[in-house]
Parts: sequence; C-alpha cells; structure tokens
Amino acid sequence: MSTHAIGIDIIETDRVRRVFQKHPIRFINRVYTPAEAAFCRGRIPELAARFSGKEAVMKALGTGARSVAWRDIEILPDRRGKPLVYLYGGAKLRSDTIGLEAIDITLTHLDSFAMAAVVCTQKYPEESPEISRKNLIERLKARGLLANITEEERLPEES
Ligand SMILES: CC(C)(COP(=O)(O)OP(=O)(O)OC[C@H]1O[C@@H](n2cnc3c(N)ncnc32)[C@H](O)[C@@H]1OP(=O)(O)O)[C@@H](O)C(=O)NCCC(=O)NCCS
Repeated sequence: MSTHAIGIDIIETDRVRRVFQKHPIRFINRVYTPAEAAFCRGRIPELAARFSGKEAVMKALGTGARSVAWRDIEILPDRRGKPLVYLYGGAKLRSDTIGLEAIDITLTHLDSFAMAAVVCTQKYPEESPEISRKNLIERLKARGLLANITEEERLPEES
C-alpha cells in the first residue's frame, strides 16, 4: 500500500539576496542546475522560492540536506508555469529506496518570504511510526532527558 509524505519550507528572501550578492557565481553553481539558473535569471524571489522548494523536497524525501545535494533536485516550470520536480544523484537514489511514485510541488513568494510545499506518494515507508517512536524514547532515556515512565503511566486516565 502506498503512503503519502509531505514537505514544507519557508525562507526570508533577504537571506538569499545577501548570499547571491556576496557570492553570485558560487551560490548559483552550488544550488541551481544550469536550466534553473537560466530560468531564474538572477531574480531573487524566483531563486528563493526554488531554494525553499529544494528544502521542501528534502523533507518530503525524509533526508533533510544530508546525502542529497541541492543540484540533485531540479524545479522547472511546465509550459503553463506550473513547477515540476526532477531528481538526480542522491535524490534519485533516495526516491528509488522509498519507491517514490509521484511528487508534486507548489511555490509562492512575496517581497519578504518565499515558501514551498511538496506532496508525494511512496511505496516503502522507511520504518513504522511505532518503532520510530520506541527508538526515540530509548534515545531520550539513555541521554537522561526523559524519566523512566512506563507506557501505562503515559496513557491518559479513563473518565
Ligand atoms: C531539514 C532541512 C532541509 C531544513 O532545515 P532548516 O531550513 O534549517 O529548518 P526548518 O525550520 O525549515 O525545518 C526544521 C524541521 O524540519 C523537519 N525535519 C528535520 N529533519 C527532517 C528529515 N530528515 N525529513 C523530514 N523533515 C525533517 C523537522 O520537523 C524540523 O523541525 P523540528 O526539529 O522542530 O522537528 C535541513 O536538513 C537543512 O540542513 N537545511 C539546510 C539549511 C541551509 O543550508 N540553509 C542555507 C540558507 S541560505
């Protein structure tokens, strides 16, 4: 059975403007594919929205920025202007691992902020939420951040 995954991100446009003004070539070459750079033509809101889009894709893939390079994720408009996502390298490997079936993205930008949301369907969820929660509880207890409560004590009392 397929499951959904979503990703969301927001960024201050000025942050992107500052990095772009300081290191234009290095920033563009590190973050954007040649086709994205050509489409954005140095327009800060467009660059910011795509930066945000790449982070939202990383979240939907469940990786964060680890093991996925910015240019492994490409966001380009179709002929009507709707953005589409293309994956390469580490992002493509990850999409194969989780059995990515479909991915869709939406972008928006104002003067000060740009944001993006991503939704995808995948065939193989990484691990069950129950196991994930159990492992986190164990890690928190091992670090002394959570008292040794039992699962029964955690449950709300019946009224
Ligand atoms: C997750 C990531 C992609 C975005 O982090 P961020 O932009 O710094 O922070 P955000 O507030 O947007 O996101 C943080 C949330 O992402 C979520 N998140 C973290 N790791 C995640 C993962 N592997 N998969 C999905 N979501 C994840 C968490 O819910 C986290 O919030 P929480 O810690 O309160 O639970 C991060 O991996 C990252 O490294 N980003 C690079 C940031 C960067 O280089 N910025 C430069 C700007 S010019």
